[in-house]
Amino acid sequence: MSFLLGLDIGTSGVKALVMKDTGEVAGSATVEYPLYSPRPGWTEQNPEDMWQASVEAVRQVLAKCGVAGSDVKGVGLSGQMHSSVFLDEACEVIRPAILWNDTRTSGQCQAIREALDPEMLFSEVCNPVLEGFTLPKVVWLRDNEPDNYGKLRWLVLPKDYVRFRLTGELAMEVSDAAGMLMMNIRERKWSVPVLEGLGLAPEMLPRIIQSAEVAGTITPEVAELTGLAAGTPVVGGGADNACGAVGSGVVKQGRGMISLGTSGVVLAHLTAPKLVRTGTVHMFNSCVPDEYYMMGVTLSAGLSLSWFRDVLGDAGESYDDLTAKAATSPAGSRGLLFLPYLTGERTPHGDGNARGSFVGLSSAHNRGDLRRAVLEGVAFALRDSVELLRSAGWNGTALRGIGGGLKSPLWKEIIASVTGLAVERLNIDEGPAFGAAVLAGVGAGVFASVPEASDSVVKVVDTVGPNPAWQQAYDELYGVYRGLYPALKESFHRLVALQ
Ligand code: XUL
Repeated sequence: MSFLLGLDIGTSGVKALVMKDTGEVAGSATVEYPLYSPRPGWTEQNPEDMWQASVEAVRQVLAKCGVAGSDVKGVGLSGQMHSSVFLDEACEVIRPAILWNDTRTSGQCQAIREALDPEMLFSEVCNPVLEGFTLPKVVWLRDNEPDNYGKLRWLVLPKDYVRFRLTGELAMEVSDAAGMLMMNIRERKWSVPVLEGLGLAPEMLPRIIQSAEVAGTITPEVAELTGLAAGTPVVGGGADNACGAVGSGVVKQGRGMISLGTSGVVLAHLTAPKLVRTGTVHMFNSCVPDEYYMMGVTLSAGLSLSWFRDVLGDAGESYDDLTAKAATSPAGSRGLLFLPYLTGERTPHGDGNARGSFVGLSSAHNRGDLRRAVLEGVAFALRDSVELLRSAGWNGTALRGIGGGLKSPLWKEIIASVTGLAVERLNIDEGPAFGAAVLAGVGAGVFASVPEASDSVVKVVDTVGPNPAWQQAYDELYGVYRGLYPALKESFHRLVALQ
């Protein structure tokens, strides 16, 4: 039997997954690494940590599954989107990577909007200018760390950096390149008008490759380190959300996905891109060649829950304890609402200075109400994305669910009731690492194509629909939720400025 390896370079660590050539998962291993926040709103990680964790995760998963490196026929990579890895002439890392959820670049976003013709910019990149994307990060480097900027020779993303370390080949895979705000997503080439309009050199960006294209092979040194065989093909891979879509069968027009991890994502597959100008909808290339997806992102989904547990939770409280307490409160948390903008917000507000809040607190509220309000607040933020995708023409009635947050039956039912959509559970819930392994299989010739492979191995096993009694309460509360950000925006900005 032969095997395929998927590696997901995430925000909390690397997950390595081994898949049989039948599409069945043999096993996985995760190795974590730290996230640094040197200032409020800043998030950074060391690319060397990502590399070391990748090596360790590969060794662990091969040992755990009892698979010989020589039986691995291909390697695929996935990873956190947008996060900048800055390399010098010798391909050494210049400074820590600035991550997708870092909000230091508000000033650079404004400067980019002012420097470029908005029509040209939008028709090239088909996306709004947002703090988390990669383009403002390189402008920030130029503005704030001129010495480091002077050393910059190559700009890549986390999974493309790990692929470089595995193979010695520098390349940028298309679904991730789309999230840099530097690529003409319709023509799949670096946008010279955008880059030159900002005085940036297009030469700092490596060549663009397809997701299932073989980009290089495992070097003899890496074979020694990991146990993989030298010469094993390594494919382009895909952005974590794009690989999540492959790993959940969202590879056909009309299908949708919800991913509930640190961030919360609602995504719909498209055969052709659309220009959606409202509400910061993201439009990116899919791992299906020449196809696309649109999505909305709420930045602090699982993060709201982990923040609550760590800062306000009872001693030793687990996520199960937390959701059990939340279940004691009725739908609507007895008049308490939570805005989950703990690290600013992407969709729909595009505001790095938005902040979280509990609104409607009274002395009658208890532990259960506070916890349920957090779960519901994230669900309202996800509904904002669903509404935007609907207004952009998506008319699906169900979302395929992935990510740790959906392991909670209560959260799943709340999300179904708030959005009015069925949330589907799949036979495989391994996230982006699984999609990366599927891409490796296509590149290695084990599977015929990305949509065919994804569609044949991923199946819906059960569905949670809206709870009608809750749905009615939530529809009314959503109207109140919608009014809160506009009412509080000014106060959020003043509070941030006062810090
Ligand atoms: C998507 C985004 C996040 C990260 C998480 O635009 O920023 O979902 O990809 O890793």
